[in-house]
Amino acid sequence: MLIFNLIQTSKIQPMKKFLLSALTLLFAFSMYAQQLPRIIILATGGTIAGTGASADRAGYTAGKIPIDELVGAIPSVKKIAQISGEQISSIGSQDMTIDIWKKLAIRANEIFEKNEADGIVVTHGTDTQEETGYFLDLLVNSDKPVVLTGSMRPATAISADGPKNLYDAITVAASPKAKGKGVIVSFNEGIFDARDVMKMSTTKVNAFYSPNTGPIGQVYDGKVEFYQASMREVNEKTPFSITTDTKLPRVDIVYMYADAPPDMIDMLIAKKVDGIVIAGVGNGNFNKAYMEAVKRAVAAGIIVCRASRTPSGRVVLEDEINDEELGTIVSDDLTPQKARILLMIGLTKTKDRKQLQKYFFTY
Ligand code: DGL
Repeated sequence: MLIFNLIQTSKIQPMKKFLLSALTLLFAFSMYAQQLPRIIILATGGTIAGTGASADRAGYTAGKIPIDELVGAIPSVKKIAQISGEQISSIGSQDMTIDIWKKLAIRANEIFEKNEADGIVVTHGTDTQEETGYFLDLLVNSDKPVVLTGSMRPATAISADGPKNLYDAITVAASPKAKGKGVIVSFNEGIFDARDVMKMSTTKVNAFYSPNTGPIGQVYDGKVEFYQASMREVNEKTPFSITTDTKLPRVDIVYMYADAPPDMIDMLIAKKVDGIVIAGVGNGNFNKAYMEAVKRAVAAGIIVCRASRTPSGRVVLEDEINDEELGTIVSDDLTPQKARILLMIGLTKTKDRKQLQKYFFTY
């Protein structure tokens, strides 16, 4: 700013003084802007990019607004980061696919390997955001921030929550404090670990929570604070990797409920799937009909993992079910939808039941 002051105190003509001052300020701002963290937004669609016919009714279509328009709605974010966006897909996340997951993980690894950004934000529908987050947690080999966000109300709704969630997610991704925290979900001012978070409300804006661990931090008024971190190994500490050629094994989930027949399990055996996650009752329990079907699945070489439909707590080995005898593993505190992801990725490394169980107690 010394140059600016010299210009101000010099005796040159007022017009020249104005032009030189403007150029100096412009140069100073561009230098400052180039020091801001570089954030790449990978957009997949979701309600955050949704448009509805009216502002006060629920009906809308997800994934319609391109990422540049979403960023354009929060111009002040350019003061905290250098932003660029890539449209990976334009879908409601109920239509999320393993192929799009692979694309996201491979692109994120490429961004970090080529040092194209200091952090990544993924805009994503809320229905399967927790699954995409955990998939990336296991496969993005960098400790740089990857932050997922979305919204519960479309961009056209009264009190749309998308712009604030996007601004906060960029704030988190640009924060040095977010490094090494694993993949994060930033939503409604809460910061959650992707491994532990789940969607807890079908319509409310405080849709996400982590029943077992709670939020790991808060983002508010442009400030990011962390209060805890997951103890599980993630990102570059996992043995897992993915390339375009990776074919992920098929793992499906079967829900348990009173008097459930074994038909779904037998259908999956016939389909020769690689793994089955049972969303059991209580501590991963199921009825006698399921027990016999699980024995048939294990005998067919299928890895069966006991998880629970109960939203919190752990499924523990050898409680009411003798896993050693039955040949099953347990999901620990992963929900059925997260257990499926770890089993899918674990099966790319091994079919050994004991090793797979170790993965569930490590990642
Ligand atoms: N359409 C669903 C999705 O894209 C829910 C809307 C949303 O919250 O994003 O996940």
